[in-house]
Amino acid sequence: MLRKKLELKIEEDKRISFSDYMEMILFDKEYGFYEREQVFGKEGHYITSPLVSEHFSQCIAKNFIEVYKQEKLENIIEYGAGNAKLALDLIQYLKNRQTLPTKYYFFEKSSRLINEQKMAIKELELDDAIDFVWVNKYEDLPKEAFIIANELFDCIPTDLIMYKNYHYYKAYIDETFKISWHKYDFLSQTSSKYLSLPKKLEDKYIFEFSLGQYEIIKNITRYIDKAYFVIFDYGYSADELYIKDRISGTVTCINNHISDFDPLKHMGQKDVSSFVNFSYLRNILESKKWDVNAFMSQANYLLSFDILNNINIDNLDEVGAIKKLIMPNQMGEIFKVLISQKGINKISDKNFSKNDIIKL
Ligand SMILES: C[S@@+](CC[C@H](N)C(=O)[O-])C[C@H]1O[C@@H](n2cnc3c(N)ncnc32)[C@H](O)[C@@H]1O
Repeated sequence: MLRKKLELKIEEDKRISFSDYMEMILFDKEYGFYEREQVFGKEGHYITSPLVSEHFSQCIAKNFIEVYKQEKLENIIEYGAGNAKLALDLIQYLKNRQTLPTKYYFFEKSSRLINEQKMAIKELELDDAIDFVWVNKYEDLPKEAFIIANELFDCIPTDLIMYKNYHYYKAYIDETFKISWHKYDFLSQTSSKYLSLPKKLEDKYIFEFSLGQYEIIKNITRYIDKAYFVIFDYGYSADELYIKDRISGTVTCINNHISDFDPLKHMGQKDVSSFVNFSYLRNILESKKWDVNAFMSQANYLLSFDILNNINIDNLDEVGAIKKLIMPNQMGEIFKVLISQKGINKISDKNFSKNDIIKL
């Protein structure tokens, strides 16, 4: 059915860009992966940090408290909240310490996940302690907030660009469901310069270029005046991202906890994402007048908020989960944290044991 819908769209336009293709296979209201599949957890397709251990979200809660002491941001916005595990653990932690924000906003695209989020919140009987609000329009967001996005940017539809013989080509899907490359005036796109591509790219190098990521930051900037924004995702600075080994790009699929690299197979049945270029996000944020304060590995962020202090070392599952979050060969190193702020006094970042902002 998804294939039929795609065929019709391709027939209309002769071909569709990879980003339009990704939009449909992931988010189509009838057949998209995020609408049809049970995405998260052991029974689903993959596991994210909030599902690994509640200590992940508790560290974010500590970050919120720290910021709140300096700047009273009354709202939390979570962008792309999945099954709401992060929200539940974070709110529970803040509730126990009487440091709840006034409102918790979910900005979510998937109708299926909005339902899951609403059910999860209801089950915990938390909704009397704080107002939960679901929005899908930027104009409905509050003017000030502590904003969280965990693994949002990696699944935002991206285009694929190939550099070949000193020209740029963009990937399209044609009626045979294969990729064809078409000349593309990449350099005239305003945000192309924000990718911080290396001066010399290998011939036939393929890289991702997401206008969707740019739009998200543009829209948040437009509607929010005061904010502290924490972005978690897997990826690298531009210098570390564009290496020879990644000449074919970084698009990765995952089905039932197994990865593959063919987004054109099993459409709608698996997740498709790509590495986040944190230099790109930093450059966009700065172009929109955000102060980008910190960039670090997920391990360094969690250690800065004392993740090791509250664990029960006799509980082997708990110890195993923390290891998964912070060990360099697991989620500790490839996952990064980017922190920026806007319209508020500079938040002291004394907490961070290591800040690699210089890498961006
Ligand atoms: C990879 S999942 C991460 C979920 C959750 N943050 C976690 O870590 O478990 C991405 C989430 O972002 C949502 N999403 C993707 N694009 C979005 C958009 N443009 N606006 C709002 N939510 C979006 C998806 O529906 C999903 O909830």
